[in-house]
Amino acid sequence: MNILGIETTCDETGVALVKDGKEIVSNIVASSVNLHKKYGGVVPEVAAREQVRLIVPVLKEALVKVNLSATQIDAIACAYGPGLIGSLLIGVETAKTLAIAWDKPLIPVNHLHAHVYANWLVLNSKLPAFPIVALIVSGGHTNLILMKNHGKFQFLGGTRDDAAGEAFDKVARILGLPYPGGPEIEKLAGNFNFKQNKFNLPLPMAWGNNFDFSFSGIKTAVFNLSKKFSLTNEDKAEIAYKFQDAVCRVLVKKTQKAASKYKVLSIVVGGGVAANSELKRQMSEVGQIDSTKVFFPKRDLAIDNGAMVAACAYYLSKKASPLSLKADPSLHL
Ligand code: KG4
Ligand code: ZN
Repeated sequence: MNILGIETTCDETGVALVKDGKEIVSNIVASSVNLHKKYGGVVPEVAAREQVRLIVPVLKEALVKVNLSATQIDAIACAYGPGLIGSLLIGVETAKTLAIAWDKPLIPVNHLHAHVYANWLVLNSKLPAFPIVALIVSGGHTNLILMKNHGKFQFLGGTRDDAAGEAFDKVARILGLPYPGGPEIEKLAGNFNFKQNKFNLPLPMAWGNNFDFSFSGIKTAVFNLSKKFSLTNEDKAEIAYKFQDAVCRVLVKKTQKAASKYKVLSIVVGGGVAANSELKRQMSEVGQIDSTKVFFPKRDLAIDNGAMVAACAYYLSKKASPLSLKADPSLHL
């Protein structure tokens, strides 16, 4: 079964073709990130205008590159929320049009579910076994979810303020780094040489009987340091390292707590922050202690892409009418 997956929830325009929910036949992602850099974050209007321009070329590239035509596609999937309304509309309306023009079923998926299913895009290795605790860490969301089976998402906890990716982005901005901040903080943290120990940052909401998160406090702590001191490059590297370490520790601690409470077999991580090597390293240590298997998507599949949408549609396959499907910017889990 070949599913065409379309992803346009934020600043990426992604189209992919995935066979049987696991084999990526083609996967094209165009990002408007360079246009947002000077503003320090995504400008919704700019993102949507770029997506109008990019969606057809990206679609063509995804099909032409692998010599595919509409006859070889079995269904069209799109992420219909949550996200930026202008951006969502481009992907959703494109998917609806293709479903009507090519007479194919239309499968709408939740962008957050799709991030989880990026972990099913593997060919020769084991798939996550249920029950699963899924940690979704993206630019807009931070959620812990219990999955007892495909499509069964039980919300355990989430952020009470900033999402993890959002905190990376905002701390990067405070330190004078461009958007998106996650990869920049990771790079800068790698420069820390441990010769100084000037700053302390809090471990945000690490304790307590809940699975919630809060990242605005640690962001403010960094902001206050930036006002109090004239930060040198070494200072910034120390702060980047300690910020990244604290955020990862909390994410790992709460995920581990959920995994042991619900006696799960797998921990699955998805979303842009899943591209972070320190998060992967810390989470993998949990896997070794508890013998719970830990899954991370490949780096390019952690950030927004059409392949995860197609994989998700393969497993959840809830069809919708191409005449009535509507984009939903605040779609819940
Ligand atoms: O899932 P995603 O591509 O888009 C949303 O659905 O929001 O996630 C984007 C987020 C951004 O906040 C970005 O800074 C963060 O993922 N990110 C990272 C890394 N790569 C991307 N955060 C930490 N470390 C990274 N290497
Ligand atoms: Zn995303």
